[in-house]
Amino acid sequence: MSREEFKLDKKDFELLRKQIYRMCGLTISDGKEYLILHRFKALYKSRNCRSWTDFYKLLVSGDMQFKEEAISAISTHETSFFRDNHPFTSIRNKVLPELLKSRRPGADIKIWCAASSTGQEPYSLSMLIHEWTRTVGAGRISPADFSILATDISGAVIEKAKTGLFTNHEKSRGLPATYDKYFDKVGGRWQVQPPVQSMVTFKKFNLLDSFRSLGQFDFVMCRNVLIYFDDLTKVDIVHRIHDLLPDKGYLMLGSTETLAGHTDRFATEHMGAVILYRKMRGIK
Ligand SMILES: C[S@@+](CC[C@H](N)C(=O)[O-])C[C@H]1O[C@@H](n2cnc3c(N)ncnc32)[C@H](O)[C@@H]1O
Repeated sequence: MSREEFKLDKKDFELLRKQIYRMCGLTISDGKEYLILHRFKALYKSRNCRSWTDFYKLLVSGDMQFKEEAISAISTHETSFFRDNHPFTSIRNKVLPELLKSRRPGADIKIWCAASSTGQEPYSLSMLIHEWTRTVGAGRISPADFSILATDISGAVIEKAKTGLFTNHEKSRGLPATYDKYFDKVGGRWQVQPPVQSMVTFKKFNLLDSFRSLGQFDFVMCRNVLIYFDDLTKVDIVHRIHDLLPDKGYLMLGSTETLAGHTDRFATEHMGAVILYRKMRGIK
């Protein structure tokens, strides 16, 4: 492919970024042509496109496989076990004890991990819950009382997450030594053990779609995805998350994400550098 052929002119850039926004809410700012060129290059080549107009036509053609591959290619899937560490300390010290206190007798504690990428985040949570329930005391609560729904717009990352298999590099990034015991070596990789895996259900899901089919949750983690959206989309998503939570239900965002100035529907609780958002009675 010649340099000339690969050039992205203003008209195609505009068409492509508007279509990306429609498909997944991702905003691509002015001057970020290189992002499209870089992320779509392999797909452009694999489909023998001869211009970005060809590429755009495929994107709006109803070819669902192409659309799926394009969404996976343009999204950032960066993640790691116990990412940023402190949020997981807050979950252990604050969120889980509060969820236990407000639990209705016999009811499961339901958690939604709303942009779970390749699974390190929900599996971290599952391992944390396994550790924590042992400290709470027999008979009060067990891992079987929890369920985690983990969703992502990318079918490719969901399929990888479902395998529960991680490379040495993926496992060693962020995983505290205490949690080594939850993995088995299989071939050259590390397999998350069945009890950790069975707490998590993975599902492909676009945050722009209606949440009606998902049910209600006691705690929602929606980390490091809202940063890619504009304010309108961000507020719409957090308001719809608000509707899924009971009074006092928790929402956790990524370390660099904040709702300050965007909505007053959540109260905030500060745990060191970590902010927990809490749905409070009367706040709508
Ligand atoms: C940077 S990763 C964050 C993963 C994890 N939450 C963490 O903090 O480590 C962002 C994920 O959001 C997903 N994503 C992007 N747009 C989405 C959308 N509209 N609906 C659902 N997931 C989306 C991407 O596919 C990607 O896997």
